[in-house]
Amino acid sequence: MQIAMIQDRMIPFNELEPAYLDRGLYFGDGVYEVLRSYNGRPFALDEHLDRFANSLTAIGIEGVDLARIRARVLQAFDASGLAHAKVYFHVTRGCGSRDFLGKGPQVPTFFLTVTELGDSSSEKARGIRVSTYPDLRWKRCDIKSLNLLPNVLARRDAAHKGCDEAILVNESGLITEGAASSFFAVFGRPTGAEGRKGYHLQTAPLTANILPSVTRLFLIRAGRNLGIPVLEEQFTPEQAAEAEELIMAVTTKDIVPIVQFDGHLIGDGTPGPITRRLAAEFSKATEVRGARA
Ligand SMILES: Cc1ncc(COP(=O)(O)O)c(C=O)c1O
Repeated sequence: MQIAMIQDRMIPFNELEPAYLDRGLYFGDGVYEVLRSYNGRPFALDEHLDRFANSLTAIGIEGVDLARIRARVLQAFDASGLAHAKVYFHVTRGCGSRDFLGKGPQVPTFFLTVTELGDSSSEKARGIRVSTYPDLRWKRCDIKSLNLLPNVLARRDAAHKGCDEAILVNESGLITEGAASSFFAVFGRPTGAEGRKGYHLQTAPLTANILPSVTRLFLIRAGRNLGIPVLEEQFTPEQAAEAEELIMAVTTKDIVPIVQFDGHLIGDGTPGPITRRLAAEFSKATEVRGARA
């Protein structure tokens, strides 16, 4: 008799619920997305679906109807009635007995949750602390894959140090991104008559080593709208510690000022003026863009 055990409960293997045999669980063999709404309107759904399509293609999961996923996201979001919602969804390569290649035809599994977004206003008002951690991830971090163990370990280390996010540093000593966020620095101070010179916004370029973050995209646009030069070039933790301002960017919290980096105060230890301007410009995009717009 083939057996399965869940905690102390023993059941015949063939009576297991399919969810226990999902390849996402065994192998992390799937990809996911997280998007959010502002005031009842899903934000940047197209951008999230495009990235999701790229992730699916990159790992060779076929036969997923993206128009259907879009419809499911909107249907679940509407059903939730939540104004500030977080929508998580994933597709795995399917279910079956634990076999690396999988046996027989595989039907991708779709799973989605809509939950209430946590309030990040105090983090935004006070700023957060971050600490560095080695980037232990694989070489295709542009795929939003379910394999998140290095990210979990990095976050655990940060939490242990009393920090809110881990900033990942690669083997060359350069920052890639946050464990679950993108990462920006403001270097230099505004000078010149209009206060437009002498400083810039910097973040790592889009390569296979970082996730093409949707918030990153909108933050770069916000910078350009404000006439702030944006440089897509990696920098070191030592440079970050000396930056005028640092920013964490992620869908669920959008633009969050960082006021401490590996124990160094950033600026005067309070959120800086350029981050505030960027956050205000970013929020304009969230006001005008809805999924159905
Ligand atoms: C590794 C990593 N980088 C960046 C981000 C930010 O991406 P987005 O702005 O699309 O939420 C995330 C989000 O979870 C992430 O996990």
